[in-house]
Amino acid sequence: MPEISTTPVLEARHITRHFGAVIALADASLTLGRGEVLGLVGDNGAGKSTFLKILSGVISASSGEIFADGKLVQLKRAQDAMDAGIETVYQDLALVDTMSAFQNVYLGREELSSNPLARLFNLVDDRKMRSRAREVLDMLAVKIPSIDVSVKGMSGGQRQCLAIARALLWGRRIVILDEPTAALGVRETGQVLDVIRDLRNHDVSVIVVSHNMQQLMSVADRITVMRLGRSIATRNVRDTQVSEIVGLITGAIPGDAEPEAAKLAIPA
Ligand SMILES: Nc1ncnc2c1ncn2[C@@H]1O[C@H](COP(=O)(O)OP(=O)(O)OP(=O)(O)O)[C@@H](O)[C@H]1O
Ligand SMILES: [Mg+2]
Repeated sequence: MPEISTTPVLEARHITRHFGAVIALADASLTLGRGEVLGLVGDNGAGKSTFLKILSGVISASSGEIFADGKLVQLKRAQDAMDAGIETVYQDLALVDTMSAFQNVYLGREELSSNPLARLFNLVDDRKMRSRAREVLDMLAVKIPSIDVSVKGMSGGQRQCLAIARALLWGRRIVILDEPTAALGVRETGQVLDVIRDLRNHDVSVIVVSHNMQQLMSVADRITVMRLGRSIATRNVRDTQVSEIVGLITGAIPGDAEPEAAKLAIPA
């Protein structure tokens, strides 16, 4: 029997966030197990993106606690989240059109050359970057024509995969995706879902927001449902159905009375 670590890689407890009079998050909790894909769902305005932004250090919580590997962390800036191993793939992806795929994978954090003289002049080690980029893209079976072509002509799916690969390249343990397939066609969506599934094999845990229940249930292990800024229920995908999740989202099915609803359920 493999040993199952019971310490979640990420846990958020009782997060609240106000924007003036607007309560975006009233009491949101979630737990993310190691190598797990957690789906986060809820109606428009339920607070999903706000929750993800707090976990990415982009905005701060009004109250609540976040634990990474069981340790309390303060995510005051995006860098704090990155230091905690959390990488977020944003909807607009922040890829540079005119740069090649491999340059994009390294964007802003080019590997320094091991040659001291080159280091002095801050030259980047193109060869090393190139081979690492290829390695990661191969590892995830990301299908792009060449790592040397500019990303301008790439499809939305290829761009999304590239951004996910970037997270892996930087050794992040947690990848957060906000509606990664929202703008994609069927084939591209399939490609992105495959990459998400594959992250699990690399011991990377994923939180993914989506409005497409069928798709989400094909990749997620568990789903946390949010309603009006609260996390109201968490279900193992294998123990639930689309109809139950939709009922929880709309309120047709009441949420769990138990406030610790987002507690990590360890499979027996
Ligand atoms: N910067 C902000 N200033 C004021 N209100 C905000 C801000 N960001 C979010 N909100 C409000 O907080 C609530 C939650 O928004 P959020 O974007 O988190 O919802 P969501 O679940 O991601 O919705 P969607 O499915 O439409 O993306 C909404 O009422 C929204 O208007
Ligand atoms: Mg959103």
